[in-house]
Amino acid sequence: MFSFFSKDQTTGEVAEHQLDEANIPAHIAIIMDGNGRWAQQRHLPRIAGHKQGMNTVKTVAKAASHLGVKVLTLYAFSTENWKRPNAEVNYLMKLPVDFFGTFVPDLIKNNIRVKVMGYTDQLPAATQKAVADAIADTRHCTGMVLNFALNYGGRAELVTAVQHVAQQVQSGQLDPAEIDETMLDRQLMTADLGELRDPDLLIRTSGEKRLSNFMLWQVAYSEFVFMQEHWPDFDQTALETAIYEYQQRHRRYGGLTPDTEK
Ligand code: FPP
Repeated sequence: MFSFFSKDQTTGEVAEHQLDEANIPAHIAIIMDGNGRWAQQRHLPRIAGHKQGMNTVKTVAKAASHLGVKVLTLYAFSTENWKRPNAEVNYLMKLPVDFFGTFVPDLIKNNIRVKVMGYTDQLPAATQKAVADAIADTRHCTGMVLNFALNYGGRAELVTAVQHVAQQVQSGQLDPAEIDETMLDRQLMTADLGELRDPDLLIRTSGEKRLSNFMLWQVAYSEFVFMQEHWPDFDQTALETAIYEYQQRHRRYGGLTPDTEK
């Protein structure tokens, strides 16, 4: 058990809570929303929000790792984000270059390994190189996996998985009756996370309550926590507050809790 102080999302009251160290969610996934609104509130261009959001990634990655989180998946760029103005897309594509260019030594110091899921072959060459270098430079790290969803979309991921399975059926390697959940799991971009592939906790910042095409298959039994903070304002206390809320939930996976079984 350890204590932290949180501010109530509606009343603003500060309270002391205890986090159960034995029940830290192993895989946390975050939809980092609200960079644009954070910037607009300060009369700054939207890209200033993304820049501050990148700094928040550094803070939250270290905080999650210290808390004992095993996988932190961050939705950094969706397959739909290409619809944004060119200047914003170009800036978002440069962020990984800046982020990894400055933060890899810190990641290594914290034993954090970088992983990426998404259609990365469609990213600009410099972005691909920054990502590939970060993966290679942190390959030996055995602590938390920092998993960036970059040019990722949940529906596209499922379509690709179905195509792979269909190819196996067409070539006669696979009987459709043998297709099961484990087989589909193995075709998804989270396959190499093994037992840790499904998020235990999904956080979305900025008050919006939707999935936006994120990990549609993997969040089947995740607990959802929606936070009011815009992503650039998210910090260690906000992360601990979300984990505390997770620890108050009773996960049943479609079954019953022991005390209701009688
Ligand atoms: C959503 O806010 C945020 C994004 C689409 C981009 C998220 C990217 C980062 C936080 C930086 C990522 C850092 C690295 C290292 C890749 P929004 O722009 O939709 O905000 P709004 O809804 O207020 O307009």
